[in-house]
Amino acid sequence: MKSIYLIGFMGSGKTTIGKALSLSLNLPVMDSDEEVSRLTGKTIVEIFEGEGEVGFRTLETKCLRNLPVENFIITTGGGIVLKEENRQWMRENGKVVLLDASPEEILKRLEGDKTRPLLIGEKETKVVKILSERMPLYLDAADVIIDTTDKSVETIVEELMNRL
Ligand code: S3P
Repeated sequence: MKSIYLIGFMGSGKTTIGKALSLSLNLPVMDSDEEVSRLTGKTIVEIFEGEGEVGFRTLETKCLRNLPVENFIITTGGGIVLKEENRQWMRENGKVVLLDASPEEILKRLEGDKTRPLLIGEKETKVVKILSERMPLYLDAADVIIDTTDKSVETIVEELMNRL
């Protein structure tokens, strides 16, 4: 089967759902951010500090293309949809699942988080702004949309499996 790409904002639960789905479907999971870190030997924070967002996006696109397009679950960085070529790649090569969550839920999940360079500072304002800017891009890429707000991991995975 084609790989399943999990997309969505930071804190939408891609990593958690990816792992749970991996167990349910008996498919391995790979993550685009982890691939970027593996390729460079640096953390995402270090890459943003050294090469900025533009440098990170170039690496992210390169890594996306090297991830398996069959029989894998691929979890992606929240900004993977910013490039049209990435949206097209995922649409053409797999099933794209958007994990949606309200800004309030995202803020709750990301409380105290220091690993997301784009949310340093005015976190609340930034989440609302970036999420609304990106929503059309997430919708453009997605084959399936799952609302994760106030749902357990089990419920989300069950819903997702029914809609694949
Ligand atoms: C980003 C999301 C992060 C990571 C980087 C940029 C974004 O991944 O790729 O910090 O632009 O939304 P997660 O969505 O896994 O947090």
